[in-house]
Amino acid sequence: MTERPKIRLAVLASGGGSNLQAILDACRPPIGEASAPLYNLAEVAVVVSDKPGAYALERAKKAGVEALLLDPKGFPDRAAFYQKAVVELQSRKIDLILLAGYMLKLEPNIIKSFQGRILNIHPALLPKFGGKGMYGHFVHEAVLKAGEKESGATVHVVDEEFDHGPVLLQNKIPVLPGDTAESLAERVLEQEHKLYPEAVAAYLRKIFG
Ligand code: GRF
Repeated sequence: MTERPKIRLAVLASGGGSNLQAILDACRPPIGEASAPLYNLAEVAVVVSDKPGAYALERAKKAGVEALLLDPKGFPDRAAFYQKAVVELQSRKIDLILLAGYMLKLEPNIIKSFQGRILNIHPALLPKFGGKGMYGHFVHEAVLKAGEKESGATVHVVDEEFDHGPVLLQNKIPVLPGDTAESLAERVLEQEHKLYPEAVAAYLRKIFG
């Protein structure tokens, strides 16, 4: 039987890229007990960052994956920046875009070019605690301030509003007495690393059969 070609992923990341790492690892053969939900299914074809020096670019190089810096500073406006991004992604035959700690808002041109083919991970249980300004420690501080009993991570399809499109999968964890934004962030991030590869694999099976 001929093997089916792997689905080509692009990961967009502005920072450290621990979620990128989880996706890269999930594309490799499983080691021991660890699961590798994207093995034989998908590969990361390119990692794109808007931030020179982002550690995500180093992670890509270490994994032997193309690392592409696309700095919006070099473009007259965001629409032009994303037009260039679309050209770069289409020329690499990207099937699905994963946002992994990507801090810039997407413009309609890239969303339309990859309609239903862009996913994001958010460190809270959407639709709560999402939207403009809800990133990093702000999310976890808001969860604690609201006295929530649980938090978690959400993977969703990206639309034109921040943290807004259809939810694909969530992992919940309890908020513990004495939790700080840092301790909660750490436990949510652990969940993110499990959730994102699983959600991507499930979504790929759904849209590509
Ligand atoms: C994660 O918490 C993710 O949910 C959010 O940004 C953070 C990125 O972390 N969108 P990392 O760069 O993947 O380590």
